[in-house]
Amino acid sequence: SQTVERGTEGAVTVGGMDVRQLAEEFGTPAYFLDEADFRARCRAWRDAFGQGADVFYAGKAFLSRAVVRWLYEEGLNLDVCSGGELATALEAGMPADRIALHGNNKSVDEITRAIEVGVGRIVLDSFQEIARVAHIAGRLGRRQAVQIRVTVGVEAHTHEFIATAHEDQKFGLALGRGTSQPEAGGGQAAEAVRRVLKLDSLELTGIHSHIGSQIFDMAGFEVSARRVVGLLTEIRDEHGVELPEIDLGGGLGIAYTPEDDPSEPHDIAKSLGDIVRRECESAGLAVPRLSVEPGRAIVGPTAFTLYEVGTIKELEGLRTYVSVDGGMSDNIRTALYDAEYSVALASRASEAPPMLSRVVGKHCESGDIVVRDAFLPADLAPGDLLAVPATGAYCRSMASNYNHALRPPVVAVKDGSARTIVRRETEEDLLRLDVG
Ligand code: LLP
Repeated sequence: SQTVERGTEGAVTVGGMDVRQLAEEFGTPAYFLDEADFRARCRAWRDAFGQGADVFYAGKAFLSRAVVRWLYEEGLNLDVCSGGELATALEAGMPADRIALHGNNKSVDEITRAIEVGVGRIVLDSFQEIARVAHIAGRLGRRQAVQIRVTVGVEAHTHEFIATAHEDQKFGLALGRGTSQPEAGGGQAAEAVRRVLKLDSLELTGIHSHIGSQIFDMAGFEVSARRVVGLLTEIRDEHGVELPEIDLGGGLGIAYTPEDDPSEPHDIAKSLGDIVRRECESAGLAVPRLSVEPGRAIVGPTAFTLYEVGTIKELEGLRTYVSVDGGMSDNIRTALYDAEYSVALASRASEAPPMLSRVVGKHCESGDIVVRDAFLPADLAPGDLLAVPATGAYCRSMASNYNHALRPPVVAVKDGSARTIVRRETEEDLLRLDVG
């Protein structure tokens, strides 16, 4: 995991650098990302899945040019879900054939650009999109490789807002006719396959399923894989074609708190590979090429946010409110999903007794909570630095300018040196957009 240690005077060091020095140089709040850890995680996923499978990093978790270059160098592919992510990927030099385009409502411009540059796959999400992508590819004289995203009716055990495979949700095409019979086939997904197979400008290469996010229980993936293979079997029986690819999406959980116990990439790869192989063998299908799309599991644990304590308010008999210089604008996950984080005094050691604290931001909203319940030393004082680990995924990428906050920088730390990969916003950046 991230190389965080306690150095002189109990201050945290990351990638060989003291947080006090980092705060001095880069200011707070800021995200510090351990490049070596990021690369090691990419390699762990790559090696675990081996040559017979592809790992697509989910760019929505966090994307920047530097990250794209690291992904490229470590042999990963990239999943993008917007024109902005696609532009970043291309600008940083990711070969288009290693990019997959996602989204439930891709614009005509996004589809056109993706086909023009030659993305490796477009994941189709609706009947309208099948027609739209086919039309654009046809007009451009291309044959575009596509997968169909299906909803397999698996309810991942995670927060409802981020579970994406209920049948009653906006993504994908349902395998079954209704929620009661997901195994029955003959649903929207089968109809989508019929339509795609008739279109010359589309090449159907596989079926895609993504069941949710921050998942620990592999059982959901097992059901998903079984149902996807079930569809491949139906496709073979109805059309006489065996599709060569299966994508089981992302969603693997990480440890936000000590209670979370994530699986290793190697075990995940083994269990997914085994399930797909077993199901295919029993259906008499050739084993398709597997791909997965981890975002959080790669970048989440590699970064922490560093804040400075500004004010401290003790509510007797309740808890102490510790206000930091960021908040919901740099980490919306606590307010939005009730997400749990841990927090530690990072700038010094303390022997003081623990006090029940709530770490809150500086925004004009009482729900602006970074860490709901945490024990911090009772001698905490303004000017102390707090580190919130595991903020690499869905924090900077979901950051906002609420209250005209300036979004914090992302600083890559490696071998005792640190460099900004996404700079801090300035007031000029804010005002540049305000043209009225
Ligand atoms: N593939 C697809 C098609 C997805 O929709 C997602 C995430 C992923 C891969 C990557 O999932 P991951 O491995 O990162 O869990 N904002 C929420 C998470 C939303 C995830 C949406 N889709 C959060 O902060 O928890």
